[in-house]
Parts: sequence; structure tokens; C-alpha cells
Amino acid sequence: MRLAAAALFALALSSCAQTPAPLEAIESGDAIRGFAFAQRNCATCHAIAAGDAWSPNPLAPSFQTVADTPGMSGRAVNVWLASEHPSMPHLIVAPEDGDDVWAYMQTLRSR
Ligand code: HEC
Repeated sequence: MRLAAAALFALALSSCAQTPAPLEAIESGDAIRGFAFAQRNCATCHAIAAGDAWSPNPLAPSFQTVADTPGMSGRAVNVWLASEHPSMPHLIVAPEDGDDVWAYMQTLRSR
């Protein structure tokens, strides 16, 4: 019975689209650390905050857009961050930092 109640509670949480994903639901990485990391390393070009649609660099997608991109995953973000991009020069991001950033991005998902 307690199990059923817990399952119902989890269901209620996940069906509420307006609430950011509960942090426990995120696979790996630390969303708080990811946000701090993004503020230092990504915010010069990307809009990183929830509801922030316009990036300082208009070519850089907002993190909300990245989070909402179908098929986007921690792996995809890390692959992106580990390869050379003329648009994102001199960025060397450790996979742990990439996981944290992705954990943070997942809290931005609007769908
Ligand atoms: C110097 C500016 C700059 C910085 C700093 C920067 N980015 Fe970007 N980023 C861009 C631009 C411009 C694009 C889009 C153009 C492109 O595809 O090359 C992009 C694209 C991306 C994409 C790809 C989105 C997609 O749809 O494929 C991801 C993911 C990303 N950035 C993550 C990050 C993260 C995480 C950081 C911080 C660690 C960061 N970026 C720092 C400029 C930057």
C-alpha cells in the first residue's frame, strides 16, 4: 500500500508539465554544479536560464532550446563538447562537467 502511494506520488509529479524535473529523476551529474559551470563557461554566448530565450551570441541556441531538442542526451552534449567547433573555440570540457551541465539543462525542459 505504501508502495502504491509512492508510485502515485511519482506519477503525479511526472505528469505536471510546468514543474521542472525533480532533481532525483536525473540520471547523473549535479544540476547545481552544472548551472555554476555554465555561468562561468557558457553564458557569454548562450542564454542559460529558464525562460531566457535570447542568447548573447544570437547564433548560440538557448539552453532551453537545447534541452527541448528531441533526442538530446547527456551523451550528445558530451560528444558535442568534446569535438572542435569554430563557433565554440578553446572549450575543453571534462565529461563530468558535461554531465553536470546536462543535469542542469534537463531542469529547463519545457516539454
Ligand atoms: C564563444 C561562444 C560560445 C561559448 C562560450 C559556448 N558556446 Fe555552445 N554554441 C555556440 C554557438 C554559436 C552554437 C551554435 C552554432 C553551431 O552549431 O556551431 C553553439 C552550440 C552549442 C550546442 C549544440 C546545440 C545543438 O542543437 O546541437 C551545445 C550543446 C552547446 N553549444 C553547449 C555549450 C556549453 C555546455 C557551453 C559551456 C561549457 C558552451 N556551449 C559555450 C557558441 C558558444
